[in-house]
This record gives sequence, C-alpha cells and structure tokens, in this order.
Amino acid sequence: MSPFNKNYGAVVLAAGKGTRMHSALPKVLHTLLGTPMLKMVLNALVPAFEGRIWTIIGHEADTVQAQITENTRFVLQKEQLGTGHALMQAWPDIEKANIEYLLVVNGDTPLISTEKMQAFTEQSVNENADLSFLTLTLPDPAAFGRVVRKNGAVTAVIEAKDYNEQIYGPTPNEINAGIYLLKVKAIAPLLQKIGNNNKSNEYYITDLIALAVQNNLVVTGVNQGNSPELLGVNSPAELALAEEELRNRVVTYWQKQGVLIRAASSVRISAEAQIAPGAEITGPCEIYGTSTVESGVKIESHCWVNNTTISKGCHIRSFCHFEDATIAAGCKIGPYARLRPGATLHESAHVGNFVEIKKAILGKGAKANHLTYIGDAEIGAGTNIGAGTITCNYDGVNKHKTVIGEHAFIGSNTALVAPVEIGSNTLIGAGSVITRNVPNGELAVARARQTNLPRKKK
Ligand code: UD1
Ligand code: CA
Repeated sequence: MSPFNKNYGAVVLAAGKGTRMHSALPKVLHTLLGTPMLKMVLNALVPAFEGRIWTIIGHEADTVQAQITENTRFVLQKEQLGTGHALMQAWPDIEKANIEYLLVVNGDTPLISTEKMQAFTEQSVNENADLSFLTLTLPDPAAFGRVVRKNGAVTAVIEAKDYNEQIYGPTPNEINAGIYLLKVKAIAPLLQKIGNNNKSNEYYITDLIALAVQNNLVVTGVNQGNSPELLGVNSPAELALAEEELRNRVVTYWQKQGVLIRAASSVRISAEAQIAPGAEITGPCEIYGTSTVESGVKIESHCWVNNTTISKGCHIRSFCHFEDATIAAGCKIGPYARLRPGATLHESAHVGNFVEIKKAILGKGAKANHLTYIGDAEIGAGTNIGAGTITCNYDGVNKHKTVIGEHAFIGSNTALVAPVEIGSNTLIGAGSVITRNVPNGELAVARARQTNLPRKKK
C-alpha cells in the first residue's frame, strides 16, 4: 500500500544547465530510449503524489515546461545558484500546502521507481528521521558528494571538489544519490542557514545534512549498495550507461511477459511502449514512444518504430521505418518500407519494398508493393497500386489530395496529379499522367501513343 497521502509532497530539482553534457539541450530533456529524463522522474512520482509535486525549472525553463505534460507545479529558479537555492524557491508554496514530509529528487536520476521511493519513505518515517537520504557505494565515486560518517552515523555530505582528507578523513566510497526525505517543520529553520562558501559558490542542499546533525535532528543515510536504479546522469557516458540499464530492464520485462525477443541485447524498447505476449521481435530493432505491438506480430531485424500501432498478426519484414502510423491486423510490410505520420493501413493491406506512405489510408486488402509514393491520399479496399506509382500531392505551394475507390488497378509508373479522384473498379494504363478525375468502372490511358516507324538503313 502506498505510504503517501496528502501529508506527503515531492520536489524535483530540474533547473540546472547540465554543463557536463556539452549540449544545447537542457540536461533533464535528454532522453533515455526516447523519454526525457524529467518525464521519467515524474512518471515515477505522479502515481504516488498526485498533484503534490513541485518541479524547479530555470535553464531554458520554457523549453522544459513545454515538454512536460505530467501533473506538476512549476517553480522558476531564475538564477541557478545551487540545489539548496533551488529548494528554497519552492519552500513558501510547500509550507502553505501543509505537508509533513517532503521527498526531494534530483531531476537527473531517471531510473527511480515508485516502489523504491515508497520503501525509502516507509523506512525513514519508521525511524522517525528528520532528514534521510539515499546513498550508494561505488567502486569509482567520480564527482558525486561523499558521505562522511563517524562511528557509522552520518555527519555530513561533502562535494567531491570540496573534500579535504585532512578535515574529513580518508575519502569514502559512499556517495549521496541526491534523493532526500525531509520533515518540513524540522528542516525549515535550517534552510536559511545554507551558505555558499564552497568551491562552486553555490548553495548546496547537502549542507542541510551537517546542519541537521549539529541541531541534534535525526539524520539517516540509507545505503543501497551500488543499485543502478539510483544512478545520476551528468555526462554523455553516464547517460549511455543509464540508458543501457533501462533497455535491459524493459527487454527483460517483456521477455518475462511472453514476448519472443531474439538478439535481445540489440533490441531497444521505450518504457512507454506496449508489447503483447506472443509477439516476436528480432534485433537490432528500436520501438519507441507509445508504440503498441499486438500478439502474433512478427518484426524482423533492423526496424525502427515510433508511436505506431501494429495490430494482430502483422508481418514486418526487415529494414522498415514507421512513425505515427496505424497498422490494422494481418498486414504485410517491407522489406524497406517507410510509413510516415498519418499512414493508416486497414486490415491485410500489403506494402512492399521502397514504398513511402504519408497521411494516407490504404484500404482493406489494398496493395502497394513496389517503389511508390502515396501522400495525402485515400485508397479503397482491394485496390492495387502498380510499381512506381506516385501521388503528385504538392504543387510547390499547397498539398492536394488523391482519392482512389475500391478494386481499382493503377498501372505501373502512373503519376496521379492531385487533386484528383479515381473511381472504383477503374483501370489506369501504365505510364499515365492522370490530371482529370476517372469515373467508376472506366479505363483511363494518358500517355503518348506509340508509333512504330521503319528504322533508317545504316
Ligand atoms: C548532486 C549533489 C551530490 C550528489 C549528486 C547525486 C549537491 C550540491 N550535490 O550533485 O551530493 O552526489 O547530486 O546525483 O546537491 N539543480 C537546480 N538548480 C541549481 C542547480 C541544480 O535545480 O541551481 C538541479 C539540476 O538540474 C539537477 C539536480 O539539481 O537535476 C542536481 O544538480 P547537479 O548539478 O547535477 O548536482 P551534482 O553535481 O550531480
Ligand atoms: Ca547530477
């Protein structure tokens, strides 16, 4: 059962720039398998805290806010003067909300789970801690804050760059994971005491630890070994490490659910995608966003799929690229097919090699098997699109629509100059350039008539 009720709130610190990422993108928007880190953190918190979550934003605040649809209140930290300063920005609001306990999470800890946060909170509350935080023991503690203990009890967290062995003793391998549970009333008087007298001239949230100890509050550091779930992401290398951890976690989950995943180490599935038991995927393969793969679907190697629904029993051959597409049951696609946003395939449609479909419906059982572009179009059931057919949808200024009825037969290498309507049961001669509508049941040929002449004698 969730220990969180209305006495609990959460704060996510996400205002920093992320200098060590060497990127123009704010760090918390960097993605793991397609999902921004901040979204992942919020996804873990929202089920537990509902609306009682504050997210501190600052660097590129508008860009960050625009990407986040999860239920959180944004608080602006105009100048990023440190993690302690970030927390202070939300404090007046938090005090108004009458919250007893506050969970504070760094926005660059993307792998945290609701369960882990619950277990940590339960333990801290049971131990009646005024301030508790999660720690890791790492073989290489890199730039993380070091946990200083005396006879086993925490006395401080000191940032790597400020660590002085003469003062604090031999450098410990235990580090601060950046996740804290604070008893609001007990910690409030300490917040103003955080200074910025350190190597970064920043107000560190971690100063609260020594301050709490000095004020005889109950402080606990809850050690989690080297749990990869609590890895912080500060550099491209750390991002790749966390992403690989997530990738493995997601693939293993789906395997346990009964999905057949071959060459599993090269299969990348987003945390939000849904795969049904009985589906079969061969790596390398990437399935991102809110894609859905239903049972009996077979996806061969080298496919890239984003926000696409692949319904029951479809067979996707190698080297396909799908984005924002909807594929009904029993379709056969590829190899080398591209479905762009708005491509909608009805039941048992066939799309073959080097076919590109954009914002178009391919009706039930319709076929476009070779070398074709279909854009801004509606193709009726049972229609056959010959090799090399192009819907000429763009006149250089505007896009226009092509509508084709049912059971039509479009001969090879036809150019359909939109806007144009081709009726049902029509036949278009190969090589035609169709500029006028074709009524139901008619044959249209629009190409120069062949002339055969005697060949000149050499
Ligand atoms: C922080 C901890 C460190 C810990 C590590 C764990 C401090 C001082 N240090 O270091 O002890 O081992 O996390 O991952 O807290 N942020 C703001 N406003 C700011 C500065 C930062 O919102 O003014 C946000 C960042 O966007 C980030 C988080 O706070 O999501 C942590 O900041 P970061 O600079 O990454 O801290 P670390 O150096 O990793
Ligand atoms: Ca960090």
